[in-house]
Amino acid sequence: MAASTEPITFDKETFTLTGRNLTYKFHVDASTSDLRTDHFGARITGPIPNDPNPIIDGWTGMPDRVRREFPDAGRGDFRVPAFRIRQAEGHTVSEFKYMDFDVVKGKEGGLNGLPGTFGEETDVSTLVVRLVDELSGIEAELRYSVFPGLDGVVRSSRVINRSSQAVTVEELKSLSVDFPVDEFEMIGLRGDWAREAHRVRRKVDYGVQSFGSTTGFSSHLHNPFGALVHPSTTESQGEAWGFSLVYSGSWTINVEKGSQGLTRVSAGPNQLSWELKPGESLTSPECVSVYSANGLGGVSRSLHRLYRNHLMRSKFATSDRPVLLNSWEGLYFDIDQERMVNLAEESAALGVKLLVMDDGWFGKEYPRTSDAAGLGDWVPNPERFPEGLAPLVEKVTSLKVADYSTTLRFGIWVEPEMVNPQSALYNEHPDWVLHAGKYPRTEQRNQLVLNLALPEVQEFIIAAMSTLLESADITYVKWDHNRGLAEMPSQSANHAYMLGMYRVFDVLTTRFRDVLWEGCASGGGRFDAGILQYFPQVWTSDDSDAVERIFIQFGSSLAYPASAMGCHVSSVPNHQTGRTTPLSFRAHVAMMGGSFGLELNPADMSDDDKRAIPALIDLAERVNPIVLKGDMYRLALPEESNWPAALFISENGAQGVLFYFQLSPNVNHTMPRIKLQGLEPEATYLVDGDGQFSGLTLMNLGLQYSFRTEYGSRVVLIQRIV
Ligand code: DGJ
Repeated sequence: MAASTEPITFDKETFTLTGRNLTYKFHVDASTSDLRTDHFGARITGPIPNDPNPIIDGWTGMPDRVRREFPDAGRGDFRVPAFRIRQAEGHTVSEFKYMDFDVVKGKEGGLNGLPGTFGEETDVSTLVVRLVDELSGIEAELRYSVFPGLDGVVRSSRVINRSSQAVTVEELKSLSVDFPVDEFEMIGLRGDWAREAHRVRRKVDYGVQSFGSTTGFSSHLHNPFGALVHPSTTESQGEAWGFSLVYSGSWTINVEKGSQGLTRVSAGPNQLSWELKPGESLTSPECVSVYSANGLGGVSRSLHRLYRNHLMRSKFATSDRPVLLNSWEGLYFDIDQERMVNLAEESAALGVKLLVMDDGWFGKEYPRTSDAAGLGDWVPNPERFPEGLAPLVEKVTSLKVADYSTTLRFGIWVEPEMVNPQSALYNEHPDWVLHAGKYPRTEQRNQLVLNLALPEVQEFIIAAMSTLLESADITYVKWDHNRGLAEMPSQSANHAYMLGMYRVFDVLTTRFRDVLWEGCASGGGRFDAGILQYFPQVWTSDDSDAVERIFIQFGSSLAYPASAMGCHVSSVPNHQTGRTTPLSFRAHVAMMGGSFGLELNPADMSDDDKRAIPALIDLAERVNPIVLKGDMYRLALPEESNWPAALFISENGAQGVLFYFQLSPNVNHTMPRIKLQGLEPEATYLVDGDGQFSGLTLMNLGLQYSFRTEYGSRVVLIQRIV
């Protein structure tokens, strides 16, 4: 039977989603009208062979033995459910049956105030399957948006209360999918503050293996991404499935091997308890799932392309980023008009294109001279900036950068979701912060969290940020967020906060489209796909040590494109680890991120290092377009090799850049070769500094570089010439 090229088909009660290398298939069970999964993986065609005489025995009935698309709780499927609805009578039983479906070509974005993927009719088609619980009148919609060219299926669910009584949604997963009996391993990104995105790979065993965040933000502790692989899957070979939540609040990914050996993966928000009055609905965030037969690298490249082209709305998503200098590690809170002008002059002289003034510039009655006060009062500190920001910004933006190509631009740091109790805002609106009745308000970094679910808080932030951005020529904003959410007033408060926060992001990023927005949450605490809808880049970690950064950046790249990573060169000894590494090593590591910058005071640099900076900036600007838009191949992982390496290849395959590092010294031992990937076998490539070689030779034999000492690094430009 010929394979259909339509991305979505319905035939004999079976839905088939088709990608370039992917089939996702499920059907309506004839006797129960339940949705049953047939396949999510490599392409298949025609009818599916099934055991004609399955043996059903024991205490678990049919619901616990089959693969299901929207599993309920309380009717004999004892695995993790996709939803749980507390009905007016108090129980949580429901029985959804297939009703009908629609296919919609193209996709505009997220639904009901949530961020979401988008694309033209040629990029994406959406299947909307409607279900009904006839006994309560509650309806459900399951959405499957297939991006055929990227082997991606984006799922979300919606519950609509068409009954005459209020119900409470206690659980609503974005995605739940059952895999056949097999051996699997799962991969997640765990960590903590300044130690984000460390890969962890473990066996999927019987029972539930779960990770997530209960912090109210996606968090440093676990990133809302997970992968399922076979034990033999590597970076470049074998089957792999990736799951990435488009959400910035608390969340859970569960991987459960049930008693019958089937593996269920489910992902979605947690800590939910959402009342639905008659006529109301609740939509889950989206979960992007991708399949690859080319290992984890294949999963990452699909996600990267999908996020760059079909999630990030910023006009800067795929455009070159200005090399910046951020004041934080150079000056910390010790900033004022004079120091910033000095920093600007030093920056411009080095060839930096954008100066970012970090924390410490605001607060009138409660000046922000440390982290003890000022958050919430978004007016310049009159002692530090007697005439406000405008004269500073005018001075900065009139400075010609070293090569006279442009003038310096100005960016600013804000943390609008927070308030210090020591602030005029808190004096005026103590009830605007998250709090639970009379219980003490837990402070962290001396600050409390504004409740963004409140419309008046949203309007305050929108107005304060608009006033700030209209007050001077500010073309870059770093939006920080430095604590978890505590004293939630209700079980639904976190999701309500997220909806309010996304509204604020939406209004501001639409109103100030020409501003380049950077997300931050004490580094990568909110590095998630929800944020990337609005902010095309994120400060990847507060750990700026180059060795640590290799682990963090390689880990983050499992889900997120390099274009989304802010990566800076800081001074040595490093402020977080005390380690000293060469300037070139620090710079080469930072060049693997889309937003390259310096985070130091040039006045503290040695003359030699200062002299080296312009050439490094020049190199960073040359590799930036390839890193920003190219396909990334992790050639060797820092967890496995003393020589971690990554290759980026431009989308048309004509240019590449290889990043190659040595971590520890290599004493009197032959260097291994590094085999490239993703090249055209028959093409010839010019490898900067080495000569011309065929794609076959570069991929099957590889390049070889030697370093004498620890912290060696090479950045090698590669060009296809024939
Ligand atoms: C945390 C951020 O991650 C840092 O880069 C810096 O902006 C500080 N906050 C400022 O308080």
